[in-house]
Amino acid sequence: MRSLPEPWRVKVVEKIRLLPREEREQLLREGGYSLFKIPSDAVFIDLFTDSGTSAMSDWQWAGLMQGDEAYAGARNFFHLQETIQDVFGFPHFLPVHQGRVAENLLFSALLTQPGMIVPNNNHFDTTRANIEVNHGIALDLVIAEGRDPNANHPFKGNMDLVRLRQVFEESSANIPLCMLTLTNNSGGGQPVSLANVKATSELCREFGIPFYIDACRFAENAFFIKTREPGQQDRSVAEIVQEVFSYADGCTMSAKKDGLANIGGFLATRNDELLERLTQRLIVIEGFPTYGGLAGRDLEAVARGLREVLDENYLRYRITQVANFGEKLTQIGIPIMRPTGGHAVYIDAKTLLPHIPALHFPAQALSVALYREGGVRGVEIGTVMFGQTDPETGEDLPAPMELVRLAIPRRVFTNSHLDYVVEVLEHIRDHRDELRGLRMTYAPKVLRHFTARFEELEPAMAMV
Ligand code: F0G
Repeated sequence: MRSLPEPWRVKVVEKIRLLPREEREQLLREGGYSLFKIPSDAVFIDLFTDSGTSAMSDWQWAGLMQGDEAYAGARNFFHLQETIQDVFGFPHFLPVHQGRVAENLLFSALLTQPGMIVPNNNHFDTTRANIEVNHGIALDLVIAEGRDPNANHPFKGNMDLVRLRQVFEESSANIPLCMLTLTNNSGGGQPVSLANVKATSELCREFGIPFYIDACRFAENAFFIKTREPGQQDRSVAEIVQEVFSYADGCTMSAKKDGLANIGGFLATRNDELLERLTQRLIVIEGFPTYGGLAGRDLEAVARGLREVLDENYLRYRITQVANFGEKLTQIGIPIMRPTGGHAVYIDAKTLLPHIPALHFPAQALSVALYREGGVRGVEIGTVMFGQTDPETGEDLPAPMELVRLAIPRRVFTNSHLDYVVEVLEHIRDHRDELRGLRMTYAPKVLRHFTARFEELEPAMAMV
Protein backbone atom coordinates (compact mmCIF):
# COMPACT_ATOMS: atom_id res chain seq x y z
CA MET A 1 0.00 0.00 0.00
CA ARG A 2 1.24 3.52 -0.77
CA SER A 3 1.82 5.83 2.17
CA LEU A 4 -0.71 8.56 2.82
CA PRO A 5 1.16 11.76 3.70
CA GLU A 6 -0.41 14.68 5.58
CA PRO A 7 -2.63 16.65 3.16
CA TRP A 8 -1.18 19.98 4.32
CA ARG A 9 2.19 21.65 4.71
CA VAL A 10 3.41 23.26 7.92
CA LYS A 11 3.42 27.05 8.19
CA VAL A 12 3.87 27.63 11.93
CA VAL A 13 5.48 25.34 14.49
CA GLU A 14 5.14 25.05 18.25
CA LYS A 15 8.04 23.74 20.34
CA ILE A 16 7.52 20.65 22.51
CA ARG A 17 10.14 18.98 24.71
CA LEU A 18 10.62 15.92 26.85
CA LEU A 19 11.47 16.82 30.46
CA PRO A 20 14.02 14.71 32.33
CA ARG A 21 12.51 11.63 33.94
CA GLU A 22 13.05 12.87 37.55
CA GLU A 23 11.05 16.01 36.78
CA ARG A 24 8.20 13.96 35.34
CA GLU A 25 8.29 11.72 38.39
CA GLN A 26 8.13 14.74 40.70
CA LEU A 27 5.20 16.28 38.81
CA LEU A 28 3.28 13.02 39.09
CA ARG A 29 3.89 12.84 42.83
CA GLU A 30 3.01 16.48 43.44
CA GLY A 31 -0.12 16.22 41.29
CA GLY A 32 -1.52 13.20 43.14
CA TYR A 33 -1.06 11.01 40.05
CA SER A 34 -3.74 12.99 38.23
CA LEU A 35 -2.80 13.73 34.62
CA PHE A 36 -5.09 16.79 34.82
CA LYS A 37 -2.53 18.30 37.21
CA ILE A 38 0.41 18.10 34.80
CA PRO A 39 1.15 21.45 33.13
CA SER A 40 0.90 21.18 29.37
CA ASP A 41 4.48 22.48 28.98
CA ALA A 42 5.65 19.39 30.86
CA VAL A 43 3.94 17.04 28.37
CA PHE A 44 5.86 15.87 25.29
CA ILE A 45 3.11 14.25 23.22
CA ASP A 46 -0.29 15.33 24.51
CA LEU A 47 -2.97 12.84 23.51
CA PHE A 48 -5.26 13.85 26.37
CA THR A 49 -8.03 14.99 24.10
CA ASP A 50 -8.95 15.81 20.53
CA SER A 51 -11.20 18.55 21.91
CA GLY A 52 -10.17 22.16 21.30
CA THR A 53 -6.69 20.98 20.35
CA SER A 54 -6.98 21.12 16.56
CA ALA A 55 -4.56 23.12 14.43
CA MET A 56 -6.55 25.70 12.54
CA SER A 57 -5.93 26.25 8.84
CA ASP A 58 -4.65 29.43 7.19
CA TRP A 59 -8.26 29.98 6.00
CA GLN A 60 -9.54 29.84 9.58
CA TRP A 61 -6.78 32.12 10.89
CA ALA A 62 -7.58 34.57 8.09
CA GLY A 63 -11.20 34.43 9.26
CA LEU A 64 -10.20 35.55 12.74
CA MET A 65 -9.18 38.90 11.28
CA GLN A 66 -12.71 39.27 9.99
CA GLY A 67 -14.27 38.82 13.39
CA ASP A 68 -17.08 41.30 13.93
CA GLU A 69 -17.19 42.00 17.66
CA ALA A 70 -20.54 43.78 17.69
CA TYR A 71 -22.77 42.92 20.65
CA ALA A 72 -25.72 42.09 18.41
CA GLY A 73 -25.95 40.81 14.86
CA ALA A 74 -22.26 40.17 14.12
CA ARG A 75 -21.64 39.13 10.51
CA ASN A 76 -19.93 35.97 11.71
CA PHE A 77 -23.17 34.83 13.35
CA PHE A 78 -24.92 35.00 9.99
CA HIS A 79 -22.07 33.15 8.32
CA LEU A 80 -22.31 30.41 10.94
CA GLN A 81 -26.10 30.29 10.57
CA GLU A 82 -25.81 29.85 6.82
CA THR A 83 -23.16 27.14 7.33
CA ILE A 84 -25.27 25.21 9.85
CA GLN A 85 -28.22 25.37 7.46
CA ASP A 86 -26.10 24.11 4.55
CA VAL A 87 -24.19 21.42 6.39
CA PHE A 88 -26.84 20.08 8.79
CA GLY A 89 -30.11 21.48 7.47
CA PHE A 90 -31.18 22.98 10.81
CA PRO A 91 -33.00 26.31 10.41
CA HIS A 92 -32.20 27.67 13.88
CA PHE A 93 -29.38 27.40 16.35
CA LEU A 94 -27.98 28.99 19.49
CA PRO A 95 -24.21 29.47 19.71
CA VAL A 96 -22.60 28.42 22.99
CA HIS A 97 -19.01 28.49 24.14
CA GLN A 98 -18.73 24.69 24.24
CA GLY A 99 -20.81 21.53 23.92
CA ARG A 100 -21.78 21.02 27.54
CA VAL A 101 -23.64 24.34 27.63
CA ALA A 102 -25.84 23.07 24.81
CA GLU A 103 -26.47 19.96 26.93
CA ASN A 104 -27.22 22.05 29.98
CA LEU A 105 -29.71 24.22 28.06
CA LEU A 106 -31.47 21.25 26.51
CA PHE A 107 -31.78 19.11 29.63
CA SER A 108 -32.69 21.93 31.97
CA ALA A 109 -35.62 22.72 29.66
CA LEU A 110 -36.77 19.18 28.87
CA LEU A 111 -36.20 17.30 32.13
CA THR A 112 -39.21 18.76 33.89
CA GLN A 113 -39.63 16.06 36.58
CA PRO A 114 -37.22 13.97 38.64
CA GLY A 115 -36.51 10.47 37.33
CA MET A 116 -36.98 11.19 33.61
CA ILE A 117 -34.96 8.89 31.35
CA VAL A 118 -32.70 9.92 28.47
CA PRO A 119 -31.49 6.97 26.36
CA ASN A 120 -28.33 7.24 24.23
CA ASN A 121 -25.90 4.76 22.69
CA ASN A 122 -23.42 5.95 25.36
CA HIS A 123 -23.67 9.26 27.13
CA PHE A 124 -20.42 11.17 27.28
CA ASP A 125 -19.54 12.09 30.88
CA THR A 126 -20.64 15.74 30.60
CA THR A 127 -23.91 14.63 28.98
CA ARG A 128 -24.53 12.17 31.79
CA ALA A 129 -23.64 14.80 34.40
CA ASN A 130 -25.96 17.40 32.87
CA ILE A 131 -28.80 14.87 32.94
CA GLU A 132 -28.04 13.84 36.51
CA VAL A 133 -27.82 17.39 37.87
CA ASN A 134 -31.27 17.88 36.36
CA HIS A 135 -32.43 14.80 38.32
CA GLY A 136 -32.72 12.59 35.24
CA ILE A 137 -31.47 9.09 34.45
CA ALA A 138 -28.87 8.69 31.68
CA LEU A 139 -29.39 5.30 30.06
CA ASP A 140 -26.73 3.68 27.82
CA LEU A 141 -28.17 1.34 25.20
CA VAL A 142 -25.30 0.64 22.81
CA ILE A 143 -25.38 -2.77 21.04
CA ALA A 144 -23.66 -5.66 22.86
CA GLU A 145 -20.68 -5.56 20.44
CA GLY A 146 -20.07 -1.97 21.51
CA ARG A 147 -19.39 -3.13 25.06
CA ASP A 148 -16.89 -5.80 23.99
CA PRO A 149 -13.43 -4.42 23.14
CA ASN A 150 -12.72 -7.44 20.93
CA ALA A 151 -15.96 -7.73 18.98
CA ASN A 152 -15.54 -7.03 15.31
CA HIS A 153 -18.41 -4.94 13.97
CA PRO A 154 -18.25 -2.03 11.51
CA PHE A 155 -20.65 0.11 13.58
CA LYS A 156 -19.99 -0.63 17.21
CA GLY A 157 -21.62 2.67 18.18
CA ASN A 158 -25.08 1.54 17.03
CA MET A 159 -28.08 1.85 19.31
CA ASP A 160 -29.60 -1.45 20.48
CA LEU A 161 -33.02 -1.00 18.88
CA VAL A 162 -34.59 -3.97 20.65
CA ARG A 163 -33.74 -2.60 24.06
CA LEU A 164 -34.70 0.93 23.00
CA ARG A 165 -38.15 -0.30 21.97
CA GLN A 166 -38.52 -2.08 25.32
CA VAL A 167 -37.58 1.08 27.22
CA PHE A 168 -40.01 3.13 25.11
CA GLU A 169 -42.81 0.61 25.68
CA GLU A 170 -42.22 0.60 29.44
CA SER A 171 -41.66 4.33 30.01
CA SER A 172 -42.33 6.50 26.94
CA ALA A 173 -44.30 9.05 29.00
CA ASN A 174 -41.19 9.55 31.10
CA ILE A 175 -38.73 10.01 28.21
CA PRO A 176 -38.45 13.67 27.16
CA LEU A 177 -35.87 12.97 24.42
CA CYS A 178 -33.62 10.26 23.01
CA MET A 179 -30.05 10.92 21.90
CA LEU A 180 -27.42 9.30 19.71
CA THR A 181 -23.73 10.19 19.97
CA LEU A 182 -21.77 10.32 16.69
CA THR A 183 -19.18 8.87 16.99
CA ASN A 184 -19.67 7.06 20.27
CA ASN A 185 -16.84 8.56 22.32
CA SER A 186 -17.40 6.74 25.63
CA GLY A 187 -17.79 3.48 23.71
CA GLY A 188 -14.43 3.81 21.91
CA GLY A 189 -15.07 6.47 19.25
CA GLN A 190 -17.07 3.90 17.31
CA PRO A 191 -19.36 4.99 14.47
CA VAL A 192 -23.13 4.65 14.10
CA SER A 193 -24.49 3.48 10.75
CA LEU A 194 -26.87 5.55 8.66
CA ALA A 195 -29.40 2.71 8.89
CA ASN A 196 -29.20 2.79 12.68
CA VAL A 197 -29.65 6.59 12.83
CA LYS A 198 -32.71 6.24 10.60
CA ALA A 199 -34.17 3.36 12.59
CA THR A 200 -33.60 5.16 15.91
CA SER A 201 -35.32 8.23 14.51
CA GLU A 202 -38.28 6.17 13.26
CA LEU A 203 -38.67 4.48 16.63
CA CYS A 204 -38.62 7.88 18.35
CA ARG A 205 -41.25 9.16 15.94
CA GLU A 206 -43.45 6.10 16.58
CA PHE A 207 -43.47 6.91 20.30
CA GLY A 208 -43.58 10.70 19.86
CA ILE A 209 -40.17 11.20 21.46
CA PRO A 210 -37.87 14.01 20.22
CA PHE A 211 -34.60 12.72 18.73
CA TYR A 212 -31.36 14.71 19.20
CA ILE A 213 -27.87 13.91 17.95
CA ASP A 214 -24.70 14.64 19.92
CA ALA A 215 -22.88 15.79 16.80
CA CYS A 216 -19.30 16.35 18.08
CA ARG A 217 -17.65 14.03 15.55
CA PHE A 218 -20.27 14.04 12.81
CA ALA A 219 -17.82 14.23 9.88
CA GLU A 220 -15.69 11.32 11.10
CA ASN A 221 -18.89 9.33 11.57
CA ALA A 222 -20.03 10.18 8.04
CA PHE A 223 -16.67 9.11 6.61
CA PHE A 224 -17.10 5.70 8.28
CA ILE A 225 -20.58 5.45 6.76
CA LYS A 226 -19.13 6.25 3.33
CA THR A 227 -16.38 3.65 3.62
CA ARG A 228 -18.12 0.88 5.57
CA GLU A 229 -21.85 0.95 4.86
CA PRO A 230 -23.04 -0.86 1.75
CA GLY A 231 -24.41 1.49 -0.89
CA GLN A 232 -22.81 4.66 0.53
CA GLN A 233 -19.43 4.61 -1.27
CA ASP A 234 -20.45 6.84 -4.14
CA ARG A 235 -22.02 9.58 -2.04
CA SER A 236 -20.12 12.58 -0.73
CA VAL A 237 -19.56 12.97 3.00
CA ALA A 238 -21.54 16.23 2.78
CA GLU A 239 -24.57 14.37 1.38
CA ILE A 240 -24.33 11.69 4.05
CA VAL A 241 -24.17 14.35 6.78
CA GLN A 242 -27.30 16.01 5.38
CA GLU A 243 -29.20 12.73 5.42
CA VAL A 244 -28.08 11.82 8.96
CA PHE A 245 -29.29 15.13 10.37
CA SER A 246 -32.51 15.12 8.35
CA TYR A 247 -33.67 12.38 10.76
CA ALA A 248 -33.04 14.47 13.89
CA ASP A 249 -35.11 17.11 15.68
CA GLY A 250 -31.92 18.86 16.69
CA CYS A 251 -28.39 18.45 17.89
CA THR A 252 -25.88 19.47 20.51
CA MET A 253 -22.46 20.24 19.10
CA SER A 254 -19.04 20.85 20.54
CA ALA A 255 -17.19 22.61 17.71
CA LYS A 256 -13.97 21.80 19.59
CA LYS A 257 -13.97 18.47 17.75
CA ASP A 258 -15.19 18.33 14.15
CA GLY A 259 -15.65 22.11 14.13
CA LEU A 260 -11.82 22.21 13.93
CA ALA A 261 -11.92 25.15 16.33
CA ASN A 262 -10.30 25.73 19.71
CA ILE A 263 -13.55 26.81 21.35
CA GLY A 264 -17.24 26.91 20.42
CA GLY A 265 -20.39 24.91 20.05
CA PHE A 266 -24.10 25.20 19.40
CA LEU A 267 -27.53 23.80 20.00
CA ALA A 268 -29.74 23.36 16.95
CA THR A 269 -33.42 22.48 16.99
CA ARG A 270 -36.44 22.43 14.72
CA ASN A 271 -38.69 23.25 17.69
CA ASP A 272 -39.41 27.01 17.64
CA GLU A 273 -41.15 27.10 21.00
CA LEU A 274 -38.21 25.36 22.68
CA LEU A 275 -35.79 27.69 20.93
CA GLU A 276 -37.63 30.72 22.28
CA ARG A 277 -37.45 29.38 25.85
CA LEU A 278 -33.79 28.46 25.53
CA THR A 279 -32.94 31.87 24.07
CA GLN A 280 -34.04 33.51 27.32
CA ARG A 281 -31.89 31.13 29.32
CA LEU A 282 -28.93 31.58 26.98
CA ILE A 283 -29.01 35.32 27.63
CA VAL A 284 -28.75 34.63 31.37
CA ILE A 285 -25.91 32.10 31.23
CA GLU A 286 -23.90 32.75 28.01
CA GLY A 287 -24.82 35.98 26.29
CA PHE A 288 -26.92 37.51 23.53
CA PRO A 289 -28.08 34.86 21.02
CA THR A 290 -25.93 36.15 18.17
CA TYR A 291 -22.70 35.43 20.06
CA GLY A 292 -23.55 32.99 22.88
CA GLY A 293 -20.38 33.33 24.93
CA LEU A 294 -18.06 33.52 21.92
CA ALA A 295 -16.14 36.32 20.24
CA GLY A 296 -17.16 37.08 16.66
CA ARG A 297 -13.80 35.69 15.50
CA ASP A 298 -14.54 32.38 17.23
CA LEU A 299 -17.88 32.11 15.42
CA GLU A 300 -15.98 32.63 12.16
CA ALA A 301 -13.42 29.93 12.97
CA VAL A 302 -16.27 27.48 13.63
CA ALA A 303 -18.14 28.45 10.45
CA ARG A 304 -15.01 27.82 8.37
CA GLY A 305 -14.06 24.69 10.30
CA LEU A 306 -17.45 23.06 9.73
CA ARG A 307 -16.95 23.32 5.97
CA GLU A 308 -13.29 22.35 6.00
CA VAL A 309 -13.91 19.18 7.99
CA LEU A 310 -15.99 17.78 5.11
CA ASP A 311 -12.86 17.62 2.92
CA GLU A 312 -12.54 13.93 2.13
CA ASN A 313 -8.77 14.05 1.64
CA TYR A 314 -8.49 15.36 5.17
CA LEU A 315 -10.92 12.74 6.54
CA ARG A 316 -9.18 9.88 4.74
CA TYR A 317 -5.85 10.96 6.20
CA ARG A 318 -7.37 11.43 9.65
CA ILE A 319 -9.07 8.04 9.88
CA THR A 320 -6.05 6.28 8.33
CA GLN A 321 -3.65 7.92 10.78
CA VAL A 322 -5.68 6.63 13.73
CA ALA A 323 -6.09 3.17 12.13
CA ASN A 324 -2.35 2.82 11.38
CA PHE A 325 -1.45 3.87 14.93
CA GLY A 326 -3.81 1.17 16.23
CA GLU A 327 -2.36 -1.38 13.81
CA LYS A 328 1.20 -0.73 15.02
CA LEU A 329 0.11 -1.14 18.65
CA THR A 330 -1.60 -4.41 17.79
CA GLN A 331 1.56 -5.64 16.06
CA ILE A 332 3.58 -5.12 19.25
CA GLY A 333 0.97 -6.90 21.36
CA ILE A 334 -0.77 -3.93 23.01
CA PRO A 335 -4.47 -4.85 23.31
CA ILE A 336 -6.70 -2.11 21.89
CA MET A 337 -10.37 -1.72 21.13
CA ARG A 338 -10.89 -2.96 17.62
CA PRO A 339 -11.64 -1.85 15.03
CA THR A 340 -10.16 1.59 15.78
CA GLY A 341 -12.61 4.46 15.97
CA GLY A 342 -12.38 7.95 14.53
CA HIS A 343 -10.46 10.13 16.92
CA ALA A 344 -8.52 7.91 19.28
CA VAL A 345 -7.01 4.58 20.08
CA TYR A 346 -8.31 2.96 23.26
CA ILE A 347 -5.93 0.62 25.06
CA ASP A 348 -7.57 -2.20 26.98
CA ALA A 349 -5.76 -1.90 30.31
CA LYS A 350 -7.69 -4.78 31.86
CA THR A 351 -6.08 -7.20 29.39
CA LEU A 352 -2.66 -5.52 29.43
CA LEU A 353 -2.46 -5.40 33.23
CA PRO A 354 -4.41 -8.44 34.49
CA HIS A 355 -2.57 -8.32 37.82
CA ILE A 356 -4.19 -4.98 38.78
CA PRO A 357 -7.81 -5.33 39.97
CA ALA A 358 -10.36 -2.83 38.60
CA LEU A 359 -10.78 -1.15 41.99
CA HIS A 360 -7.04 -0.39 41.91
CA PHE A 361 -7.55 1.51 38.65
CA PRO A 362 -5.44 -0.32 36.04
CA ALA A 363 -6.24 2.22 33.32
CA GLN A 364 -5.13 5.08 35.57
CA ALA A 365 -1.94 3.12 36.37
CA LEU A 366 -1.26 2.80 32.64
CA SER A 367 -1.80 6.54 32.06
CA VAL A 368 0.67 7.26 34.85
CA ALA A 369 3.21 4.89 33.24
CA LEU A 370 2.80 6.56 29.83
CA TYR A 371 3.71 9.92 31.31
CA ARG A 372 6.45 8.58 33.55
CA GLU A 373 8.14 6.61 30.76
CA GLY A 374 7.63 8.89 27.77
CA GLY A 375 6.04 12.22 28.68
CA VAL A 376 2.92 11.01 26.86
CA ARG A 377 -0.48 12.02 28.22
CA GLY A 378 -3.61 9.94 27.68
CA VAL A 379 -6.87 9.83 29.58
CA GLU A 380 -8.38 7.12 31.76
CA ILE A 381 -11.83 5.91 30.74
CA GLY A 382 -12.49 3.25 33.33
CA THR A 383 -13.31 3.01 36.99
CA VAL A 384 -11.97 6.49 37.82
CA MET A 385 -14.34 8.03 35.27
CA PHE A 386 -17.31 5.68 35.46
CA GLY A 387 -16.97 3.70 38.72
CA GLN A 388 -19.97 4.04 41.02
CA THR A 389 -20.94 3.49 44.59
CA ASP A 390 -23.85 1.13 45.18
CA PRO A 391 -26.51 3.37 46.79
CA GLU A 392 -27.76 0.52 49.00
CA THR A 393 -24.61 -1.27 50.13
CA GLY A 394 -22.11 1.61 49.80
CA GLU A 395 -19.86 -0.80 47.91
CA ASP A 396 -17.53 0.54 45.17
CA LEU A 397 -18.50 -0.82 41.77
CA PRO A 398 -16.00 -0.96 38.88
CA ALA A 399 -16.74 0.30 35.37
CA PRO A 400 -17.37 -2.35 32.70
CA MET A 401 -14.16 -1.49 30.79
CA GLU A 402 -10.70 -0.22 31.74
CA LEU A 403 -9.53 1.90 28.83
CA VAL A 404 -6.82 4.47 28.27
CA ARG A 405 -7.74 6.78 25.46
CA LEU A 406 -4.98 8.20 23.30
CA ALA A 407 -6.90 10.90 21.44
CA ILE A 408 -5.28 12.33 18.34
CA PRO A 409 -5.66 16.11 17.97
CA ARG A 410 -6.66 17.07 14.43
CA ARG A 411 -3.82 18.15 12.09
CA VAL A 412 -1.34 18.48 15.00
CA PHE A 413 0.89 15.40 15.20
CA THR A 414 2.61 13.60 12.35
CA ASN A 415 2.92 9.85 12.08
CA SER A 416 6.44 9.96 13.50
CA HIS A 417 5.11 11.47 16.74
CA LEU A 418 2.81 8.48 16.97
CA ASP A 419 5.68 6.07 16.20
CA TYR A 420 7.41 7.46 19.28
CA VAL A 421 4.31 6.68 21.37
CA VAL A 422 4.36 3.11 20.01
CA GLU A 423 7.96 2.79 21.23
CA VAL A 424 7.03 4.04 24.70
CA LEU A 425 4.26 1.46 24.88
CA GLU A 426 6.64 -1.26 23.73
CA HIS A 427 8.83 -0.40 26.70
CA ILE A 428 5.84 -0.45 29.08
CA ARG A 429 4.78 -3.82 27.63
CA ASP A 430 8.18 -5.29 28.53
CA HIS A 431 7.90 -4.04 32.13
CA ARG A 432 4.19 -4.33 32.69
CA ASP A 433 4.49 -6.66 35.69
CA GLU A 434 6.17 -3.81 37.56
CA LEU A 435 3.16 -1.50 37.22
CA ARG A 436 1.16 -1.09 40.43
CA GLY A 437 -2.41 -0.05 41.14
CA LEU A 438 -3.52 3.14 42.85
CA ARG A 439 -5.66 4.17 45.77
CA MET A 440 -8.00 7.14 45.41
CA THR A 441 -7.29 9.65 48.17
CA TYR A 442 -9.78 12.32 47.10
CA ALA A 443 -12.88 12.26 44.90
CA PRO A 444 -15.62 14.86 44.39
CA LYS A 445 -19.23 13.71 43.94
CA VAL A 446 -19.78 14.71 40.29
CA LEU A 447 -17.32 14.15 37.37
CA ARG A 448 -14.74 12.80 39.78
CA HIS A 449 -12.04 12.01 37.23
CA PHE A 450 -11.29 15.71 36.68
CA THR A 451 -10.07 16.35 40.22
CA ALA A 452 -9.54 12.94 41.86
CA ARG A 453 -6.16 12.38 43.51
CA PHE A 454 -4.30 9.11 44.10
CA GLU A 455 -1.44 7.35 45.84
CA GLU A 456 0.51 4.50 44.27
CA LEU A 457 -0.06 1.27 46.16
CA GLU A 458 3.60 0.32 46.05
CA PRO A 459 6.49 2.50 44.91
CA ALA A 460 6.96 1.96 41.19
CA MET A 461 10.27 0.41 40.27
CA ALA A 462 12.41 2.31 37.85
CA MET A 463 11.99 0.82 34.42
CA VAL A 464 15.07 2.29 32.76
N1 F0G B 1 -20.26 15.03 23.81
C1 F0G B 1 -19.21 14.27 23.47
C2 F0G B 1 -19.42 12.99 22.72
C3 F0G B 1 -17.92 14.68 23.82
O1 F0G B 1 -16.88 13.93 23.46
C4 F0G B 1 -17.76 15.90 24.51
C5 F0G B 1 -16.44 16.36 24.92
C6 F0G B 1 -18.88 16.66 24.83
C7 F0G B 1 -20.13 16.19 24.46
C8 F0G B 1 -18.80 17.97 25.58
O2 F0G B 1 -18.25 18.97 24.81
O3 F0G B 1 -16.13 19.63 25.98
O4 F0G B 1 -17.21 21.13 24.31
O5 F0G B 1 -18.24 20.79 26.52
N2 F0G B 1 -15.43 15.63 24.90
C9 F0G B 1 -14.07 15.99 25.24
C10 F0G B 1 -13.21 14.77 25.16
C11 F0G B 1 -13.91 16.75 26.50
O6 F0G B 1 -12.03 14.85 25.57
O7 F0G B 1 -13.66 13.73 24.68
P1 F0G B 1 -17.41 20.19 25.43
